[in-house]
Amino acid sequence: MSDLFVDLTAPNGRKYKQPIGLFINNEFVGAKSGKKITTINPTDEREIATVHAAGSDDVDIAVKAARKAFKDPSWRDVATSTRGGLLNKLAKLVEEHAEVLATIETWDNGKPYSVALGEDVKGVVDVFRYYAGWADKIHGQVIDTTPNKFAYTIREPVGVCGQIIPWNYPLSMASWKLGPALACGNTTVIKAAEQTPLSILYLATLIKEAGFPPGVVNILNGYGQEAGAAIATHPDVDKIAFTGSTATGRQIMKLASVNMKNITLETGGKSPLIVFDDANLEQAAKWAHSGVMENSGQICTATSRILVQDVVYDKFVELYKEKIKLISKIGDPFKDDTFQGPQVSKAQYERVLGYIEAGKKEGATLTTGGVPYKDVNGKGFFIEPTIFTNVKDNMTIYREEVFGPFVVISSFKTEEEAIDRANDTTYGLGAAVFTQNITRGHKIARRIESGTVWINSSNDSDFRIPFGGFKQSGIGRELGEAGLAAYTNTKAVHVNLSGC
Ligand code: NAI
Ligand code: MG
Repeated sequence: MSDLFVDLTAPNGRKYKQPIGLFINNEFVGAKSGKKITTINPTDEREIATVHAAGSDDVDIAVKAARKAFKDPSWRDVATSTRGGLLNKLAKLVEEHAEVLATIETWDNGKPYSVALGEDVKGVVDVFRYYAGWADKIHGQVIDTTPNKFAYTIREPVGVCGQIIPWNYPLSMASWKLGPALACGNTTVIKAAEQTPLSILYLATLIKEAGFPPGVVNILNGYGQEAGAAIATHPDVDKIAFTGSTATGRQIMKLASVNMKNITLETGGKSPLIVFDDANLEQAAKWAHSGVMENSGQICTATSRILVQDVVYDKFVELYKEKIKLISKIGDPFKDDTFQGPQVSKAQYERVLGYIEAGKKEGATLTTGGVPYKDVNGKGFFIEPTIFTNVKDNMTIYREEVFGPFVVISSFKTEEEAIDRANDTTYGLGAAVFTQNITRGHKIARRIESGTVWINSSNDSDFRIPFGGFKQSGIGRELGEAGLAAYTNTKAVHVNLSGC
């Protein structure tokens, strides 16, 4: 038992009991694989804790638990309002434990505590409440055909869902996947990312306390190539939902083909932000800054590719630099005035620095930043907010997702050019347009190839509104009513009324 929990004291002085096992059948258990993951605080590079890492045998045990729970009357036959009640109870527990959850998130991921508490954890509560409300409002249709037929549809849960989440918003991503899956009556095996294994294990204790029957939610840590791949290939998993890189998404799609799993993917992006000469430049610079610099730039929808009309280009770049000076306070994420913490891991830190080198080599102009930031405690994976200008459309830094406090700013002449270049990408997650001309704003919203368009804002996500990608940014939608489609199968029933 002692091997399954550790007493920890976080850098902000908060003491709590951290589970470190695999959560299967509402209990923490050791991994049969014998493997472990040691997680690092990216702010000071010190170890936080070591957790059990699932291997394929452990995945199999978790899938069996989820299958058993799916068939069990205690879950299968529960009244839909009762199902919603469980999610509401979970939302309330998350609210009550918000501070410890935010503490773990900040410690393990490096994001500012104020954001972890006020946005991430608050968002988890919102998502669970929202889908709690849907649980008893999911219904089929009666479809009129001829007097001889009575036909109707039933929306049934898909079954056992495999859910694989990333490290940039660990708790949020868990809630986006668990909320709709549970509202629709599925059971799940969810795997956290190697870099951030801790907060979801604490959430597991709340899932049990909320009263979900054993096996309905199973939570594993484990390496992607091993535990992730075992979930994606498991023949008794009906659905796979993934958020992460496009490369891994493609891999998962292949793996999931073994038994033709239902799939939703939310992957990468290189989202454009277009600024027209009639825009409120001050506002445009403010949103363009937050749209890529928040969360240390580790945002799938980051508007990381800025296109500015030539006549206001220089002015915009100046305003952007001012925003960095004014807002981008780098520091200890537990401090109140910190805007930007470290990158999540050494690998991500090196990856971003690699793109900075690539930008320089390719001949773009490094306008600001471009170096590690060592003034926090001499350690940690901090990088100064970086702007590249004079960027050409064929450069790596213009085309690839960097996932750091890193932005490229390029100029355009005409509206047509802006649209063409905005769409000149294999991605299609988000896009922002800044203009005071409402006709132009809405027209462009139609022509942009992306799952979300913001007019005069950026990265404004809302649990009531569908979220997902066009092109190689994903398949399917999360959040909103649209998010339910990913977790239900529609069954058609034909009743012969003809008597012959
Ligand atoms: P990743 O996509 O490899 O990891 C995300 C999740 O997938 C993790 O839980 C991981 O364990 C799992 N995974 C990895 N390989 C797997 C496999 N073969 N089968 C099943 N599951 C697997 O992302 P990574 O390597 O951490 O980050 C690399 C880049 O990916 C980042 O620099 C960023 O550009 C992008 N990324 C995008 C995210 C988004 O929200 N769109 C989130 C995280 C990363
Ligand atoms: Mg960590």
